[in-house]
Amino acid sequence: MNQQPVLTEQERNPLASLEEWEDDLLARYPETPASVNPEHKTKEEYRNYEAPARDTVREFYRLNHRYQTFDFVREKREEFLAFNKKEMTVWGVAEFLNTLVDDSDPDTDLDQLQHLLQTSEAIRADGHPDWFVLTGFLHDMGKVLCLFGEPQWAVVGDTFPVGCAHSDKIVYSEFFAENPDSQNEQYNTKYGVYEPNCGLRNVHMSWGHDEYLYHMTKDYLPEPALYMIRYHSFYAQHRENAYNHLLDDHDHEMFKWVRAFNPYDLYSKSPKPPVVSELKPYYEDLIAKYLPATVRL
Ligand SMILES: [Fe+2]
Ligand SMILES: [Fe+2]
Repeated sequence: MNQQPVLTEQERNPLASLEEWEDDLLARYPETPASVNPEHKTKEEYRNYEAPARDTVREFYRLNHRYQTFDFVREKREEFLAFNKKEMTVWGVAEFLNTLVDDSDPDTDLDQLQHLLQTSEAIRADGHPDWFVLTGFLHDMGKVLCLFGEPQWAVVGDTFPVGCAHSDKIVYSEFFAENPDSQNEQYNTKYGVYEPNCGLRNVHMSWGHDEYLYHMTKDYLPEPALYMIRYHSFYAQHRENAYNHLLDDHDHEMFKWVRAFNPYDLYSKSPKPPVVSELKPYYEDLIAKYLPATVRL
């Protein structure tokens, strides 16, 4: 049965820009948890930040929580994990992603490529290994899903397991009442279709840019990098520990890396934008060290 809903333009793109989701994350998590990175910058250094219009973010999550069902995820995986849409260089993917401009949001001066470079440059400045730097550069490339016409709520937003009960620690969890899975007794118990502590490798996450990029890069990067990519939007776990009952010991070990990555994603916006042409040679070498000449989308 086809689970993909017929949507109005408003339902496809409730946000003025994808950054509204990220700005909302900053409002929800204004500071780096001391346990993660006590040295890192805190919100004091981001005074320019202004909370987005909450009603668009609320509508975004209403749609996300309504439509991200177990079957929807299964269909999106089939559709996009075939990787039969395009083939291009990794730098080409970054440039392609950068064609995603938000005309409707005049306040957004930080384009997608700059967010990637600011994240990766902050990681580099802290002296982390080169694969960690590369992960910062790559981590949001899955947002190219938007350029294939996907609704915003199937590209960005906090991710969560599907096929089991939705935690009330997930943002706007009240909207899961509209998700048909919460009425389905196969999916609405604590463990749902999973076994206790079965490990996240056996758990289906809601569909979005994290899962998509994970599959694109899974043969090429060290495992901690893959955890950072795959679970960087899983705030209900890496900030709230809401799904410890599904994680195994190995996941817990690897989530130290997910938590180490998160501050660079959220708090690396700098007033001095990186100069793309100066950085491009370094990143092209780094890409060539780990990834094939072209990747499939
Ligand atoms: Fe992301
Ligand atoms: Fe990001």
